[in-house]
Amino acid sequence: MRIGSILENQKAEKRIAITPDIVKKYISLGFDVLLVKNYGSHLGMKDELYLEQGANILENENEVLSSSDIIVQLSMLSDDKISKINENGTLIGILNPYENKEKLQNLSKKKINFFSLELLPRITRAQSMDILSSQANLAGYKAVIESFANFQKAIPMMMTAAGTVPAAKVLVVGAGVAGLQAIATAKRMGAIVFATDVRMASKEQVESLGGKFLTVEGSENLETEGGYAKEASDQFKKKQEDLLSETLKKIDIVICTALIPGKRAPLIIKKNMFNNMQEGSVIYDLAAIQGGNTAFTELDKIVENNGVRIMGESNILNKLPISASSLFAKNVYNFVDNLFDKKNKKININLEDEIIEKTLIK
Ligand code: NAI
Repeated sequence: MRIGSILENQKAEKRIAITPDIVKKYISLGFDVLLVKNYGSHLGMKDELYLEQGANILENENEVLSSSDIIVQLSMLSDDKISKINENGTLIGILNPYENKEKLQNLSKKKINFFSLELLPRITRAQSMDILSSQANLAGYKAVIESFANFQKAIPMMMTAAGTVPAAKVLVVGAGVAGLQAIATAKRMGAIVFATDVRMASKEQVESLGGKFLTVEGSENLETEGGYAKEASDQFKKKQEDLLSETLKKIDIVICTALIPGKRAPLIIKKNMFNNMQEGSVIYDLAAIQGGNTAFTELDKIVENNGVRIMGESNILNKLPISASSLFAKNVYNFVDNLFDKKNKKININLEDEIIEKTLIK
C-alpha cells in the first residue's frame, strides 16, 4: 500500500498532511510514503529529512497522485488532480462537504473513496483523529495573540510606583474548542475573561478555566445530540443582544467563535452594538470565514468602525503552520490506522464503524 500527498495551493494553505515524524509511523503500518519534491521545504522540513525517515520523493505531483492508494491532503483537490487518482483510490482531507456538496456527490459516483474529516463524530474513540478540535484549539490561542498584539494597552493588571494599569477585559463569544482555548490563553496572560454560549454545558467548562459565564436569561439549551449548537430563536437572540450590548460597555477585546455547522455564522455583534463599545477595542472574528459574528467583519482585512478594530482571516492557521501540521498529520495518521486492515493489508471500509460511515462521502 502506498500513501501520498502533494503540495497545497501555497497562497491559501501552508499546512501539510504528512510531517517527517509521521513517515516512520506509516512505514511501520506497512505503507510506502510518496511525496512531491519540496513538500515541506516552506516549513523548514527539507526533502533530505523526509528521505532519512524513509519517504520517497517524486519529481512530479501527477506521479504521486497516480501511484498512491491513499492521498492525504488539507483541502479539496481540483477536478484535474482528482482525475489523476487511481480507480479505487482514496482521498482523505478537509473536503468542505457543505460547500462542495454537489461536487462531492458527483465525484462519489467515481470509484474513489472520499473521506471528509470535518464529518468525524465527536465521540471518545475519534478524539485522536479530530482535526476540528486540534485546529480550533490552535486557532483560539492565535486569535488571542493577534488581538492582544493589536490592542494598544497592556493586558495584565500592573501595580507600579507610577500608578496602576487595569487588567484588560476580554469577552469570548462561543465557548467550544476554540473559545475555551481563547479563555485559557487570555487568562494566562492576565486578562479578566467573560464568555457566553448557547449550550449550557459550556458554562461549567468556562468557569473551570476561571472565566465568568454570561447566561442569557431564560435560556433554553440549544445543543444538538452531536454536541453542536442549534440556531437560536428570535426571542433568545434578542435577550442575548441585550445582555451583550450591556456587557460590551466594559469590554476591551472580543474573540468571536460562534458557529453552527453547515450554516452562516450567527450575527451576534450587530451594528448598533458598536455604539456601546469603547474606542480602541479590538475584535478578532474567528467565524469570519463563515460570514462572521459581527456586522463589520471583512475577510482578511482589519476594519475600523467607531474606533473599534475588527479582524478576521480566511486561515489563521497559516500563522502557526508547523504546530497545525504536526497535529493535523497525527490526526490523519490515526484515521488511516483505523481504516487500515492490518491483517489483509488493505483499506477496510467497514460501514458499521461510525467513524468510517460518517466521514465517507456517499
Ligand atoms: P463550533 O466550532 O461548531 O462552534 C463554536 C461554539 O459556538 C460552540 O460552542 C457553539 O455552541 C457556539 N455558538 C453557536 N451559536 C452561538 C450563538 N448564537 N451564541 C453563542 N454561542 C454560539 O463548535 P466546536 O468547538 O467544534 O464544539 C462543538 C461541540 O463538540 C462542543 O460541544 C464540544 O464540547 C464538542 N466536542 C466533543 C469532543 C469529543 O470528542 N467528545 C471533541 C471536541 C469537541
